[in-house]
Amino acid sequence: MSPKKLHIKTFGCQMNAYDSERMAEALESQGYALTHDAAEADLVILNTCHIREKAVEKVYSELGRVRLAKEDRKSRGLDTLIAVAGCVAQAEGSEIMARAPAVDIVVGPQSYHRLAHLVEEAAATGKGLVATEFPAEEKFAHLPDRPKGKSRASAFVTVQEGCDKFCTFCVVPYTRGAEFSRAPAEIIAEVERLATMGVREITLLGQNVNAYHGPHPDESSWPLARLLRSLAEIPAIERLRYTTSHPLDMDEELIALFGNEPKLMPYLHLPFQAGSDRILAAMNRKHTAAQYEALIGKVRQARPDIALSTDIIVGFPGETDADFEETLALAARVRFAQAFSFKYSPRPGTPAASLEGQVPEAAKRERLYALQSLLDGDRHAFDRATVGRSLEVLFEGRGRKPGQIAGRSPYLQAVHVEGPDELIGQIADVDILAASPNSLTGVIKSGFEWRGPVQAAV
Ligand code: SAH
Ligand code: SF4
Ligand code: F3S
Repeated sequence: MSPKKLHIKTFGCQMNAYDSERMAEALESQGYALTHDAAEADLVILNTCHIREKAVEKVYSELGRVRLAKEDRKSRGLDTLIAVAGCVAQAEGSEIMARAPAVDIVVGPQSYHRLAHLVEEAAATGKGLVATEFPAEEKFAHLPDRPKGKSRASAFVTVQEGCDKFCTFCVVPYTRGAEFSRAPAEIIAEVERLATMGVREITLLGQNVNAYHGPHPDESSWPLARLLRSLAEIPAIERLRYTTSHPLDMDEELIALFGNEPKLMPYLHLPFQAGSDRILAAMNRKHTAAQYEALIGKVRQARPDIALSTDIIVGFPGETDADFEETLALAARVRFAQAFSFKYSPRPGTPAASLEGQVPEAAKRERLYALQSLLDGDRHAFDRATVGRSLEVLFEGRGRKPGQIAGRSPYLQAVHVEGPDELIGQIADVDILAASPNSLTGVIKSGFEWRGPVQAAV
């Protein structure tokens, strides 16, 4: 009998991407094979995002397409199970089935270790199942080890989940639950395993990754800096990154690491959300614009060439033109290498959704446009400043054109060069020749000698 086919579509943040991988691995260990084609899948999982209204709309329109595929398969005598996972699952629970009756399983981000069991039960009973409690047991302890044999250059590892900060605009504390850190030993084992699969770069993930405080048997807990130093000791791991950080949790040791841990890449994503202290207070961010800027100053002192990235919201309730000017001014002073900016989207159940002074759509649109023009300019300026330099690039796959390979610079810029496939999974020095809006192009530095496959020395 041919194996059952599984199709997963992922929306939202990198943590969802990580969760999708773990769900796929868990189901592969139960005999499923992955397919890119939803129409041939026996099981379709949509791993969803609830952060803004648009993200949720995307899920429902995708569900419409998947339902048609399910009906088409049914007419050919084939059964299909549809599972909704992730943050929409957590936030809406059984309401999803009321709105989209073709859905068989709703499973929240802290319950997906039970997915194989839920699939079996749904197939046997034909009943809709909802698993959205925050279980007392920890999902990571119930997932199979990362399988060997899949080769790739970089990987995400979730180390911290959930959030206790309750910014007034945000659904994450409700969809992901309370803040929680995985044990260092468990993370180190996962990273060592990934290293044997050829992974050279690890990005540690958390909604507030720098609030990490991993329970350690020797000491009361490990802060993120301690975990990073320990992961840097794994020889085959050549690059470390972490995201997303909250300004309140950037401690001195973590900042200093940018200057003294060569494996920690010079890139920091540090959302500031708004430049007006009044709006920051209404958002419950618990810091001022000046405090944010002072923090950026310290980070740049530790690592002057660091690429800074951020998240910004325009049109939070009560935001005036003058408030927005302060957002523009702060962004202009910091000069980000990368930035993600959004129109405020009122989310059901969050305090800001019921505030007075909701900003009209047209004003939000205008502000976003003005902000993005500024941010794009700074991003291009950062990229152009790397032209003429030699950067270490970790190659991750083939490029768009034949004969091209593509990778990332230390600053997380996409880089394309002409080069042999053997370099995929390796780091090489690249002379950067040009910066286009979405990537850099360069040539492999003359005299660079391929060292041959790195021994999985872990
Ligand atoms: N934990 C991270 C953010 C996670 S959500 C932090 O604290 O910085 C990613 C980004 O989505 C946020 O930084 C914010 O800019 C944006 N966002 C969250 N809720 C939003 C909403 N209701 N409307 C618009 N943007 C939102
Ligand atoms: Fe959301 Fe704020 Fe928590 Fe970030 S810190 S996940 S924005 S509540
Ligand atoms: Fe979206 Fe959930 Fe991530 S709401 S941004 S998928 S934590």
